[in-house]
Amino acid sequence: MPITRVKPQPPLRTAPNRPPPRLPELPRPPHLLLERLLRAAAASGAASPDVLAKGKMRYMTICIACHQPTGMGLPMVFPSLVKSPYVNGPTDRFAAIILKGNIGAFTVDGKPFNNVMPPQEAVLRDEDIAAVMTFVRSNFGNTSGPVAPDVVTAARKKFADRKTSWTQPELDAWK
Ligand code: HEC
Repeated sequence: MPITRVKPQPPLRTAPNRPPPRLPELPRPPHLLLERLLRAAAASGAASPDVLAKGKMRYMTICIACHQPTGMGLPMVFPSLVKSPYVNGPTDRFAAIILKGNIGAFTVDGKPFNNVMPPQEAVLRDEDIAAVMTFVRSNFGNTSGPVAPDVVTAARKKFADRKTSWTQPELDAWK
């Protein structure tokens, strides 16, 4: 029986062995309604249920991991946000804390911590930060007013070149 010769086939076209080009990351579009609601809340001094719900959603996906559902943190590891001067004090300082995070020895309510809070500037938009600030400032026993997104925008701009997180002495010398 004659040997049938298999006609050579062209090589299969496979995907080139290199990763696909990385698309530039697009910024998330601003949440215009939330911005408007936050400005109205800051102007009137009272946050609407919608604003608080948005802020709570952010808290429950990010801050909760460390500061806990109660806002009370965990002894020795995560400080409490309850009646904290960093929460209820200057809003540009609180915004700066969320944007850049904290590092090093930190005493809150007489209790020492020495841990790291990761910066959130790449994760949260200004209006998300203002909403979570507004939520925290009016929950967990805190009774401070709502925060306009413009406070966060200004802080983001002011500290745009800063690469490091805040230390407590810097925050306590806040001007
Ligand atoms: C991965 C854990 C972690 C996450 C997530 C986190 N924090 Fe923190 N946070 C810390 C730690 C740790 C400190 C203290 C830093 C230190 O020890 O130097 C701190 C400090 C703070 C402080 C100043 C001290 C105080 O108790 O008042 C505030 C305010 C604060 N965090 C708010 C927030 C808010 C709001 C969010 C969510 C947007 C958040 N943190 C997310 C761990 C975290």
